[in-house]
Amino acid sequence: MSTPQNSTKEYTLYTGQTIPAVGLGTWQSTNEEAYEAVLNAIKAGYKHIDTAACYGNEEPVGRAIRDSGIPRSELFVTTKIWGTDHTRPKQALQTSLDKLGLDYVDLYLMHWPVPLNPNGNHALFPTLPDGNRDISQDWDFIKTYDLMQDLIPEGKVKAIGVSNFSLTNLKKLLDAPTTKIKPALNQVELHPLLPQPELVKFAKANDIVMAAYSPLGSTSSPLLKDETIVKIAEKYQASPATILISWALWRGTVVLPKSVSSKRIQTNLKTITLEDEDGETLNNIHKVKGNTRFVLPNWFPFVVFDEIV
Ligand code: A2P
Repeated sequence: MSTPQNSTKEYTLYTGQTIPAVGLGTWQSTNEEAYEAVLNAIKAGYKHIDTAACYGNEEPVGRAIRDSGIPRSELFVTTKIWGTDHTRPKQALQTSLDKLGLDYVDLYLMHWPVPLNPNGNHALFPTLPDGNRDISQDWDFIKTYDLMQDLIPEGKVKAIGVSNFSLTNLKKLLDAPTTKIKPALNQVELHPLLPQPELVKFAKANDIVMAAYSPLGSTSSPLLKDETIVKIAEKYQASPATILISWALWRGTVVLPKSVSSKRIQTNLKTITLEDEDGETLNNIHKVKGNTRFVLPNWFPFVVFDEIV
């Protein structure tokens, strides 16, 4: 049985770029935490950092990348366009690059398929008087993606992709006549209580890499105490977190564990090769326990997750 080793696994996007399989997630990290986390991660050997305009931490994330001393070309950096910027990807990208202090990002994702009113009552989370999000009714993600395609020739993004796309929305995007450049990657919530096998299968068949956010089940995760996962962890003499991260690699997805703890950042890069029978056991937990989505913002009436597949 293998002992956990720093993962060097990479996938190749259909664009030809390589993407390190384990990346550092930075959602919910404050500025100070994000700076230290990214520095610690790169020191520990991470080559892949994931942020987003909406996280509000692009500035410290970029500063840590620049302070790390690792050449930019050796790192894979992802950021994401927020809903209030869907009508203006070019400006949104430039704002992100200015905050990051970088000339380009390796991957630029549409954060959610939901366009939000750019002139609403809040820059990021505009709401209507009834409390629901102020969703643009005269725009859609097909138009957003169409504009994102124009970013590639400018050289400031190496690849574009999507996030939080269900199977239905992904198919809709691929079928749109304006979609000429396929998304390279779809980043969604993936873990044993939400393995979304049909979505993963469809993406693979279309040469779209899937990336797992909240692979540990997010804050105060019940997954880390799940008896099946704990039992497998005992077998490998590894932590439940290591098992969850290694399962994501076993099934061929990118995995983006978030941590602000230097120790956990280090251990989260150390993965094992799961035996197939254990991978299958983890695949099947949701069949007994049911699917659980830990990240479920209110996008009413927009249907983001119309089915769990
Ligand atoms: P912290 O940042 O204090 O380490 P996810 O990646 O699924 O969103 O999960 C992130 C949550 O899991 C955070 O609360 C993070 O807290 C915690 N976490 C990250 N790595 C580990 C680990 N190896 N063991 C236990 N908890 C972890």
